Amino acid sequence: MSEERRQLIDEILRLKQERDAIILAHNYQIPEVQDIADMVGDSLALARAATKVPQSVIVLCGVRFMAESAAILSPSKTVLLPAKDAGCPMADMVDAESLLRKRAEYPDAAVVCYVNSSAEVKAVSDICCTSANAVRVVSSVKERRVIFVPDCNLASYVAARVDKEVIPWPGYCPTHHRLNARDVTNARAAHPNALVLVHPEVRPEVAQLADFIGSTSQIIEFASKSPATEMIIGTEMGTLHKLYKDNPGKKFYLLSPGLICPNMKRTTLALIRDSLATLEPRVTVDEDVRRRAARALERMVEIG
Ligand code: 13P
Ligand code: SF4
Repeated sequence: MSEERRQLIDEILRLKQERDAIILAHNYQIPEVQDIADMVGDSLALARAATKVPQSVIVLCGVRFMAESAAILSPSKTVLLPAKDAGCPMADMVDAESLLRKRAEYPDAAVVCYVNSSAEVKAVSDICCTSANAVRVVSSVKERRVIFVPDCNLASYVAARVDKEVIPWPGYCPTHHRLNARDVTNARAAHPNALVLVHPEVRPEVAQLADFIGSTSQIIEFASKSPATEMIIGTEMGTLHKLYKDNPGKKFYLLSPGLICPNMKRTTLALIRDSLATLEPRVTVDEDVRRRAARALERMVEIG
């Protein structure tokens, strides 16, 4: 490790103590950010952690909706998003006004919103979900019809597994949506002994060809427990870091070289250091929006 990197890490560790801070990182973060984090996980684990950690400052290494969820669930804490422009393009594919219009069209439907959404969208939804608990959450609502926003691919995945009518929204993740069935057949031809593990944000034609579908942490857990020694990974490349770390004897192949989320790659050690030094950029949510969004997020956290 370079002297510069060593110094940066020492500074982060010192500032973390001084600020009473905890660093939470998503599975897609770059390896050096994952390595300095106190916890690395999927969106559900990050949301749960935000409700439990004793520290007064949360440094969220991920994208804006993750930091917003922490700020909604833990209003007394200072939530920092080191890369202030790290957004999620899928979250921007739905806004509260359009969702309210859709609600008016289907007054008997519940609105389930994927956490990859803005605080304003959460505030006009009944309950949130992540990719780890979407089927459980949709099954839990009493309504027979569910408007599911914003990911149409996660909506299809859920619709096939619940006894309800799921009305999808036409949003998608640009990183996962570009995968197609041919990517899977090509990868299987190149690695005939490998299992295919994908995220539910992939298109149905890709999900249908997979051996396992799950959230980022569920993919990591499945890979560790599986006796298989070769796996093709159909989610963002950041996941490979923990897969290799936890499974030294196994081989992992990315389903496509395009599996990279540019927003997740914006966080650097230097930005983490700067955010701890200045306690900026801070993520805050308007109190009225926060209270309404908290209801939807808390209902999800209760379900688990
Ligand atoms: P997970 O909740 O599975 O970590 O996914 C978050 C995400 O943004 C996937 O693209
Ligand atoms: Fe959003 Fe896709 Fe990036 Fe996840 S991978 S944060 S859904 S753009």
